[in-house]
Amino acid sequence: MSPFYCVLIFILTLQEFSTNLPAAAAEPKTTCNKDYVPEGTSLNCTCTDSSSGSTANVSWPGHSNTSVLIVDNVRRDDNGTVFTCLMEGQGATDRTTNVTLLVAYGPTDNTVSITSSPQYVTNETTSVTLTCTARDFYPSVTYSWSGLQCTSNGANCTFLPRPEDERKYVHCTVLNSIYQSSGHEIKGFAAYQLHFAYGPTDNTVSITSSPSVVTSETPSVTLTCTARDFYPSVTYSWSGLCTSNTAICTFTPRAEDERKYVYCTVLNSIYQSSGHEIKGFAAYQLQFASTTQSTNPPKNSLAGKANIEGLFILVCLFATTAAVEQLNSHL
Ligand SMILES: *[C@@H]1O[C@H](CO)[C@@H](O)[C@H](O)[C@H]1NC(C)=O
Ligand SMILES: *[C@@H]1O[C@H](CO)[C@@H](O)[C@H](O)[C@H]1NC(C)=O
Ligand SMILES: *[C@@H]1O[C@H](CO)[C@@H](O)[C@H](O)[C@H]1NC(C)=O
Ligand SMILES: *[C@@H]1O[C@H](CO)[C@@H](O)[C@H](O)[C@H]1NC(C)=O
Ligand SMILES: *[C@@H]1O[C@H](CO)[C@@H](O)[C@H](O)[C@H]1NC(C)=O
Ligand SMILES: *[C@@H]1O[C@H](CO)[C@@H](O)[C@H](O)[C@H]1NC(C)=O
Ligand SMILES: *[C@@H]1O[C@H](CO)[C@@H](O)[C@H](O)[C@H]1NC(C)=O
Repeated sequence: MSPFYCVLIFILTLQEFSTNLPAAAAEPKTTCNKDYVPEGTSLNCTCTDSSSGSTANVSWPGHSNTSVLIVDNVRRDDNGTVFTCLMEGQGATDRTTNVTLLVAYGPTDNTVSITSSPQYVTNETTSVTLTCTARDFYPSVTYSWSGLQCTSNGANCTFLPRPEDERKYVHCTVLNSIYQSSGHEIKGFAAYQLHFAYGPTDNTVSITSSPSVVTSETPSVTLTCTARDFYPSVTYSWSGLCTSNTAICTFTPRAEDERKYVYCTVLNSIYQSSGHEIKGFAAYQLQFASTTQSTNPPKNSLAGKANIEGLFILVCLFATTAAVEQLNSHL
């Protein structure tokens, strides 16, 4: 025999030996219906002896006296529970295999939300990123967007807003990956309404004064700046005769303030923070009660004037009467 045949026989003998190893070395084999069990459904595992011709008894101590383990209506709190399959008999030592229950759950509508960055849409040159956030789910989720065309990157949806997108709704649907593949969908849903920031303009800002007529004796003047047609919010600033950072500005008028101006600037808060200002502006000229009116004689002297006029008419009448009498005497 050549050394070659000798080696061949040795290998064949070794193979024969290994297939005849005692079954005692093999662990029980477990097969379950799902890797992740959706909440509310059942776990169904079968434990089998992997060694051929075995007569060993297989059970799930504490749960089943047979090779089949059924756990009905699993809850998320059951996640991580370990079930042990026990194989005993044939005088050999007991062998076990563990199964860990993994419960798939969530999200729900209550655990999905959308945030926007920036919070308000400003103009058509700045893109907006909406982020969909899901909580309380296991093990993983997938995101999908609808309502407008966006470059979706999972939880993020980026787009360039167009004017016609104003007040449109964008929707995010979050699907549990496990439920999805099991054909039994579990999803959370959230909607987000787009809002453009706009206004005010000079045409929508005005100032009113209280009192409306001011004299040098008026102790205090309250000016109110009113802005219309803006979204979402504005800030006020005053300059000129008074300063304030609210819609109201109060000051004490002095004679030298006559015909001086007070200015109110209304800034859209969103545009302001984005460094791209949008503002409305109004001016108010302080005017004291008209000079002709204030130099009018008081009522008392007017009455005196009336008396003088009456006297004049009386004198005139007397003179006329005297003249007529004189004329008569001449005739
Ligand atoms: C458990 O799984 C086995 C094998 O797939 C099947 O025959 C049996 O009907 C299942 N039992 C339940 C309660 O689903
Ligand atoms: C398993 O069998 C024992 C005795 O035969 C019995 O007392 C027990 O209730 C059974 N357990 C289950 C889960 O069937
Ligand atoms: C579920 O159990 C597995 C195994 O113990 C663990 O890795 C996982 O973190 C658990 N999941 C949750 C959400 O607790
Ligand atoms: C398997 O269980 C049955 C009934 O409980 C018992 O009679 C039998 O002896 C067990 N077999 C082994 C190999 O332990
Ligand atoms: C199976 O789980 C039990 C209890 O959790 C543990 O004591 C045992 O070591 C585990 N067996 C294996 C093979 O992991
Ligand atoms: C989503 O956007 C946020 C900020 O807008 C960023 O921090 C995050 O990395 C983005 N995620 C993905 C998956 O692109
Ligand atoms: C849009 O906004 C950006 C940043 O807020 C600004 O730089 C740009 O000039 C604006 N474009 C127009 C057309 O308003």
